[in-house]
Amino acid sequence: MSSVAIPNRPPIEAGGPVAIRVADLGVQYSLRFTKKTTVRTTFQNMLRRKDGPNHFWALRHVNFQVPHGESLAVIGPNGAGKSTLLQVLAGILTPSEGVIDVRGQISSLLTLGAGFDPELNGRDNILLAGAFLGIDHKVMLSLMDGIVEFADLGQFIEAPIKTYSSGMRARLGFSIATVVDPDVLLLDEVLSTGDAVFRAKSRQRIVSLMSSAKAIVMVTHDMNWVTEFCNRAILLERGNIVAEGDPEDIVRMHEEHSEKARVDRDAEIARKIAAAADAARTAAANAAQARAKRSR
Ligand SMILES: Nc1ncnc2c1ncn2[C@@H]1O[C@H](COP(=O)(O)OP(=O)(O)O)[C@@H](O)[C@H]1O
Ligand SMILES: [Mg+2]
Repeated sequence: MSSVAIPNRPPIEAGGPVAIRVADLGVQYSLRFTKKTTVRTTFQNMLRRKDGPNHFWALRHVNFQVPHGESLAVIGPNGAGKSTLLQVLAGILTPSEGVIDVRGQISSLLTLGAGFDPELNGRDNILLAGAFLGIDHKVMLSLMDGIVEFADLGQFIEAPIKTYSSGMRARLGFSIATVVDPDVLLLDEVLSTGDAVFRAKSRQRIVSLMSSAKAIVMVTHDMNWVTEFCNRAILLERGNIVAEGDPEDIVRMHEEHSEKARVDRDAEIARKIAAAADAARTAAANAAQARAKRSR
């Protein structure tokens, strides 16, 4: 493994306390469209075998640990299970099997602003978010100015959230989630939030959170973030960890796999187009033959 000295990357203390431990984690989704859950259907679901055509494993046999002070990147193609993994770590989803152990206060920026109340203004939503995070109301009031300033929403902070753009919601979500100084910070595709100025600010804030030796698990499509800010990376594909190690190595592997997937996809599309053209030619030839028969 290469060991490139990158100033922003905090060193990992050997044998430091473990912040996150995941053992044989599995998450299964139901593919059934269960609109109504009655007591009976719930019971039926409990009795039904949990595999088969109606279920699939979004994550399976996932094992890893994150020591304090580490920043772990989780990368992989769309649908690999990255968001599912973070939702389990955040306690939003219950795993179908396996063990997860997360030590300390968690702050997650997953679906940024998903918990906001659209009718309330920015300030009230900050207090609401604080309550969800289990932060004392007085403490949250004292943090208010800092959050408002960082989110930089101008007078929109007094307006109902329903009037915000998705970028504004994300900025407010980011400001709240990172002001609380969590032990474990979970980030899912939030680093590309907002304009260049906000991106620079959020980058700085994450760097400072990292330097205060908190554990971070970060999902991002921006490979620069992975190599610059993470100590370690995991490559997730189809719900399994296929590689784990130095960010540079894992990013390279991910890029190779993505390139191969792209080539395969292109070849598949070319095959389909050729088959369609073939079918069209055959149909045209048959039609011409039929016409010729009729005119005879
Ligand atoms: N609530 C859900 N119900 C059923 N399938 C889901 C649900 N959420 C995600 N999935 C599926 O699980 C897989 C992993 O999704 P996700 O964790 O969002 O992947 P990623 O974040 O890596 O793109 C995908 O195939 C996705 O379609
Ligand atoms: Mg995702």
